[in-house]
Amino acid sequence: MAHRWTNDLTRADVTPKAAYLNRRQILAGTIGLGAIGLAGAARADTLEPNTLEEITSYNNYYEFGTGKTDPATNAHKLVTSPWSIKVDGMVDNPGDYALGDLLDGLTEEERIYRFRCVEAWSMVIPWNGIELADILNKVGVQSGAKYVAFETVVQPENMIGVQRRVLDFPYVEGLRLDEAMHPLTIMATGIYGEPIANQNGAPIRLVVPWKYGFKSIKSIVRITLTDEEPPISWNVANAREYGFYSNVNPTVDHPRWSQATERKIGGGLFASRQDTLMFNGYPEVASLYEGMDLTVNF
Ligand code: MTE
Repeated sequence: MAHRWTNDLTRADVTPKAAYLNRRQILAGTIGLGAIGLAGAARADTLEPNTLEEITSYNNYYEFGTGKTDPATNAHKLVTSPWSIKVDGMVDNPGDYALGDLLDGLTEEERIYRFRCVEAWSMVIPWNGIELADILNKVGVQSGAKYVAFETVVQPENMIGVQRRVLDFPYVEGLRLDEAMHPLTIMATGIYGEPIANQNGAPIRLVVPWKYGFKSIKSIVRITLTDEEPPISWNVANAREYGFYSNVNPTVDHPRWSQATERKIGGGLFASRQDTLMFNGYPEVASLYEGMDLTVNF
């Protein structure tokens, strides 16, 4: 498969796992070569590997509590089967799709992406997923649609954070249509070649690698095409601190902390912080924001 994006992270940048290595052989002909061919431009200090253990034990998933280990402790209660996704709004084929039907016939790929949380920590994660554009093309986006809105499942009896109302649930997010259609934007269903863990947003979550992690909404049950900018949870909670775009930008600080550097999870207590890269190191998305003042549209 031809690569339509640049990617400077390779499999050498994540911790090899036995199961993952098996997977690697299956995928080697399709994914690995392109990624390896583009290696070399990476920021040297970002490339410490993240283990599956790190990726699944240090999380943000407020429906399961606000502590970093709360999701790993509580998310086993999430019921992920059966799972359906409502697709509505400005689409040719709206409906309630069983997850398998929605993804049927679409190509799953592996994408090794940097992941940068707005709280200034980061990881490198090997996702398995489908380009969101493929899903949107399947349901048929109508002309006039300008945004895509997403909604997370609410299972109050299973979600302690929902019971405690730590945010206004359901968690909602949104992208401009051109951001949603960008080939870097994926819907992830796996990590390290295994089904995505509940605490990481099973059975399907968004991943937008050039934006702060909170844009990557978990456990999605609704996708809506609309011509109006949709509300997003963190902006509703605190508009001064969290904007709609939330592109990773080391020159625009959070009101309460600098975004110039980040702490790589797994680096150890005494590891030095690393520089945060514009668009999290994905400069190919810059053209989406040409002419926009990114200090205003933060
Ligand atoms: N999605 C939902 N539904 N609820 C959340 O609390 N947290 C966001 C994002 N998606 C969140 C969510 C934030 S702040 C981050 S940094 C990432 O999920 C964390 O993803 P991870 O736990 O897989 O690393």
